[in-house]
Amino acid sequence: MNDWTVPQRWDDYDPVEHATWDRLFARQSAMLPGRAAGEFLRGLDVLRLGSPGIPRFDALSERLSRLTGWTVVAVPGLVPEAVFFDHLAHRRFVAGRFIRKPEQSDYLREPDVFHDVFGHVPLLADPVFADYMQAYGEGGLRALAHDALERLARLYWYTVEFGLIRTPGGLRLYGAGIVSSYGESVFALDDASPHRLGFDLARVMRTPYRIDDYQRNYFVIDSFADLLRQTLEPDFAPLYAQLARLPDIGIGTILADDRVYSRGTQARGGAS
Ligand code: PHE
Ligand code: FE
Repeated sequence: MNDWTVPQRWDDYDPVEHATWDRLFARQSAMLPGRAAGEFLRGLDVLRLGSPGIPRFDALSERLSRLTGWTVVAVPGLVPEAVFFDHLAHRRFVAGRFIRKPEQSDYLREPDVFHDVFGHVPLLADPVFADYMQAYGEGGLRALAHDALERLARLYWYTVEFGLIRTPGGLRLYGAGIVSSYGESVFALDDASPHRLGFDLARVMRTPYRIDDYQRNYFVIDSFADLLRQTLEPDFAPLYAQLARLPDIGIGTILADDRVYSRGTQARGGAS
């Protein structure tokens, strides 16, 4: 199978591109202490993502593979699902090599190297999260066979991209889509609009998500070990079959048995 990887061509980045990384890095690393999960902040630190300029994937992979066996490989942009899952199943994280233009600091549609590396890679230095991501890749290949990709994609969205975690000090961020975004790093923890609900696997798989605005729901895990416990062992095939007979849950709806951390006003993005 063509694995879609390309050389990073680090020498081809120009000073403006490195400066964009440095500016985004400085802004996020200043705001995340006290907001992001300890595991994420430790990953930033041990992987030395703060050295200036866009990281070299080869040097980064060397540090990361010593910790958890993961490496980072470059791809041109979004890749087919089966290719993506196969990389994850083999502990290879695929990252875009391009970086956003200076005027796109706050918003962009396609993941770039800042989102992919700053957002995703730090947690891959955590042994439990590292196992979760590999299991997700293996689960993705199985979901393809069960025609249940949409279900599994929701799990990825509400954990890997937009997850929150409960800690003794309060809720913290760990989703890559949040921690790589200045605006959503504030919104996801502090804004009155979104619901913050306890993570429940079947519930999450029934909940649609927004791709064009901040989330209307965030799901809160108790720990990475608990997330792994809920997902690694159980065979999802019976769950997929059961869910196929159930309707989706309206995106702003709270159910009677939801664990509610905050009931949002849904002012942002809600139906008026
Ligand atoms: N247990 C899941 C399955 O049977 C695999 C999986 C693990 C999926 C972790 C996602 C995350 O498909
Ligand atoms: Fe992402």
